[in-house]
Amino acid sequence: MVPQTRCQLIVFLACTVLLSLPSIDAGPTFECELQKRDDENVCVFRNVVYTKNLTGVTWKAPASKIQHVAFEESKLQTLPKSLLDAFPDLRSLDVPSANLSSVIIPANLERLYASNNMIKQIVVTDTRDRMKMLELILDSNHLHDVSNLTRLAKLEILSLSGNKELTDDGTLELGQFKGMDALRHLLLSDVDAYYVENEKDVSLPELELLDLSNNHLLTSSLRVKVFAPLKKLQILRLGHNQLNNVDVLRLTENNPQLKQIFLEGNHFKCDEQRLILDHLNKSGVEAPVNNRQPRCMLGFDQQDDMCCIATMPVGPPKTEMPKPPKPSNEESDQMTHGMSHSSSDTATGHGNERTTSTVTPPATVPKSNDGKNGAAMVTLGNNSWFGVLLVAAVAKLILF
Ligand SMILES: *[C@@H]1O[C@H](CO)[C@@H](O)[C@H](O)[C@H]1NC(C)=O
Ligand SMILES: *[C@@H]1O[C@H](CO)[C@@H](O)[C@H](O)[C@H]1NC(C)=O
Ligand SMILES: *[C@@H]1O[C@H](CO)[C@@H](O)[C@H](O)[C@H]1NC(C)=O
Ligand SMILES: *[C@@H]1O[C@H](CO)[C@@H](O)[C@H](O)[C@H]1NC(C)=O
Ligand SMILES: *[C@@H]1O[C@H](CO)[C@@H](O)[C@H](O)[C@H]1NC(C)=O
Repeated sequence: MVPQTRCQLIVFLACTVLLSLPSIDAGPTFECELQKRDDENVCVFRNVVYTKNLTGVTWKAPASKIQHVAFEESKLQTLPKSLLDAFPDLRSLDVPSANLSSVIIPANLERLYASNNMIKQIVVTDTRDRMKMLELILDSNHLHDVSNLTRLAKLEILSLSGNKELTDDGTLELGQFKGMDALRHLLLSDVDAYYVENEKDVSLPELELLDLSNNHLLTSSLRVKVFAPLKKLQILRLGHNQLNNVDVLRLTENNPQLKQIFLEGNHFKCDEQRLILDHLNKSGVEAPVNNRQPRCMLGFDQQDDMCCIATMPVGPPKTEMPKPPKPSNEESDQMTHGMSHSSSDTATGHGNERTTSTVTPPATVPKSNDGKNGAAMVTLGNNSWFGVLLVAAVAKLILF
């Protein structure tokens, strides 16, 4: 009996030593704390610093089968594979503002919130049909190539807003999302887009909401036919761009299921804006305004809760022209599309005084040029309106 016990003791001691060995020379242990958030038990890691060359990290939790993990006040270069291995039941992961430069998306993860990082690279670990990802929030990162994301065939919500490297020379190609057949919401606000293309008429068959607000979209570069293949599109956000026209006639024809379009913060002339809104109303499309401006900038009037470029209905025939063409690349490119553009295509948000104070002698450029794009809906009234607008604007300026 005795030797046997001794033997057991030795084995026990040896095991203890062996087991404790890794924790002697291996990396740190991080432990999360359970917390209730929105009726879910989330295990929260705080103050974690993880670099790629850190080895032997142990990730611990006070319970098993953790499904939701969050990081706070942490810096992680990448999502540690060891973390994903430690939480095989993980369904959602929250890693905002953690200086991540890449992420790994394992097959079982359904939600990843990783805004405000430096993410350039995304690795998807499994085949298309095995990926369960439903919601991916990657605002304010540095993504350029999103082709790996197209393996996320079940993804319903994708936010890439604030990824300023997403466009190619200012062109946002909707075709890059080809294959994301379950996508319902695609948020592409503030990605420095001047143009939107859909060269291959990619359909995104379930897409209901497309957010293109806070970009630099210009009238002649926004061709509404790029939206035509999006057969379920209901909500289109175009607010805070530089549009002075939108071909709503074709838009509502192509996308009869459209329910809402957001247009505030653009450069419409008030009379054109009225026509646009009238047409939308007649077509049963709402044009809600999120942030009603209490005051409009000089040269802008308030109408239908939006600021638009002031226009008035009488006066000598004159027209306004943009300041000496100082075309940026985008603008010259735009000209090669054969659209001569008019006043409010100014590339900056500060162009308003410029627009209204620049008086040039009569009508060389008929206003309806831009209407080529804006098509049928806007036949601008008499040129004389602009004369009065100009006189009024100049008078306003003098008063200032
Ligand atoms: C690798 O780890 C060392 C500390 O062990 C650290 O000083 C260094 O910054 C790390 N390198 C990178 C690239 O993270
Ligand atoms: C963020 O990551 C970059 C490299 O990916 C590194 O150079 C930088 O020091 C990190 N910043 C912080 C605050 O950890
Ligand atoms: C795409 O995934 C592969 C591995 O599957 C990876 O090597 C590559 O860097 C990823 N590309 C991007 C842009 O994330
Ligand atoms: C159209 O205008 C009428 C009257 O202002 C309003 O009651 C209705 O809700 C509008 N329709 C849409 C789709 O906005
Ligand atoms: C434009 O002017 C013509 C006369 O020059 C006038 O007959 C017409 O009614 C005017 N149209 C508008 C919309 O003011």
